[in-house]
Amino acid sequence: MSAAKVLRRPVPGSAFSWYPTMMGIKQRQVDALNAQLTAQDPLLQKLQKKQPVRVSVTGGAGNIGYSLLFRIANGELLGPDQPVEISAVELPHAYQALQGVAMELEDCAFPLLEKLNITDNAEECFDGCEIALLVGSKPRGPGMERADLMRDNGVIFKETGQVLNRMAEKYCRVTVVGNPCNTNALIACNHAPDLQARNFTAMTRLDHDRAIGFMARKTMLPPNEINHLAIWGNHSATMFPDLSDTLCHGVPWSELIGEFRAERYWRHEFLPKIQSRGARIIQVRGKSSAASAANACLSHTRDWCLGSPQPDWLSMGVVSDGEWGVPAGLVFSYPVYCENGGYKIVTDEDHPNNDWHTRTEFKRYHIERNVQELLAERDMVADLL
Ligand code: NAD
Ligand code: LMR
Repeated sequence: MSAAKVLRRPVPGSAFSWYPTMMGIKQRQVDALNAQLTAQDPLLQKLQKKQPVRVSVTGGAGNIGYSLLFRIANGELLGPDQPVEISAVELPHAYQALQGVAMELEDCAFPLLEKLNITDNAEECFDGCEIALLVGSKPRGPGMERADLMRDNGVIFKETGQVLNRMAEKYCRVTVVGNPCNTNALIACNHAPDLQARNFTAMTRLDHDRAIGFMARKTMLPPNEINHLAIWGNHSATMFPDLSDTLCHGVPWSELIGEFRAERYWRHEFLPKIQSRGARIIQVRGKSSAASAANACLSHTRDWCLGSPQPDWLSMGVVSDGEWGVPAGLVFSYPVYCENGGYKIVTDEDHPNNDWHTRTEFKRYHIERNVQELLAERDMVADLL
């Protein structure tokens, strides 16, 4: 990265960087500012009044787009009583396919779909956008790593950030799905200085849901009985699926698996399976995950805008303000609570279980590995920032 380039930091956290954290002093300031922002947030007001919300989707005719658009129109993004206006964009060569998708959407006669606009012009797509789902980009094929897409897709996210800055509403929420999603979100965020940095997020919800699904099958419990699981870091094979605080039906997961086997299971079975699940799907299906990715994109964005069930938490890639020792400005996946149209990173004090020392070390090691990988990615795209 060029020495002069300073990555954006999220507001309001960094506004109080000099406040002490002891006795919740800093947190109270952050909460007060958040409450103020919420009271003035036009998106939340629209949601309250059930006025149509403008959702823009890139890559509308692609694999994920084809699944995503119908579910947004069906009320699965913002609720069964919330009207939406969808605007979808495609590259010129795929525009005809998008026209076909639009015809199918019309044929569903979705009552919540107030308006549908399709285009091959990004400016038109993002005009007045309030929620941007950035899917349009190349997927990886067999044998590739997500980072192999960095240069090709990075250019797309630079342009998208610039167009968002010119055309979208200043309070627009942006979910980046296209890979490598952390670094793409970083690029887009740095090209949209008029939008809030904290409104750029990268989707690690698919990894989170995969991990919940794995643990549910392992323990033979329903997925909603698996709580306090987290994905840390990068949406790559380095990500850290964290079971330190995970409860299954209210008890520590290791009690169900058996203390003796628990560490071995986590390190040698659970962790590599979650880390390589995307690659495994490509190997078996011949294409990258699509319906499950669309589902995760809906859940990520819905919970962000409407709130998530607590005291459980979710995983989201967000612009770091230095939390957990991650360099400020990197887009890093953390466990978060979602409320009032925003999110709050889980802190050490929020953990229901007392960390056992070796587990803390294990977590710190993996967080650091992810930091190093994301710093290397940032350096690879220095000229795009
Ligand atoms: P796809 O190739 O089926 O569809 C992508 C679509 O985007 C294509 O139709 C293409 O024409 C369009 N497109 C490309 N550049 C565009 C641009 N600049 N503007 C508008 N449209 C553009 O791919 P897919 O399977 O839908 O995957 C899309 C992206 O999502 C890939 O980068 C993939 O790796 C990523 N992905 C991420 C996750 C995650 O968990 N974060 C999960 C699955 C897939
Ligand atoms: C996934 O996790 O399924 C996606 O990121 C697609 C991929 O390239 O693995």
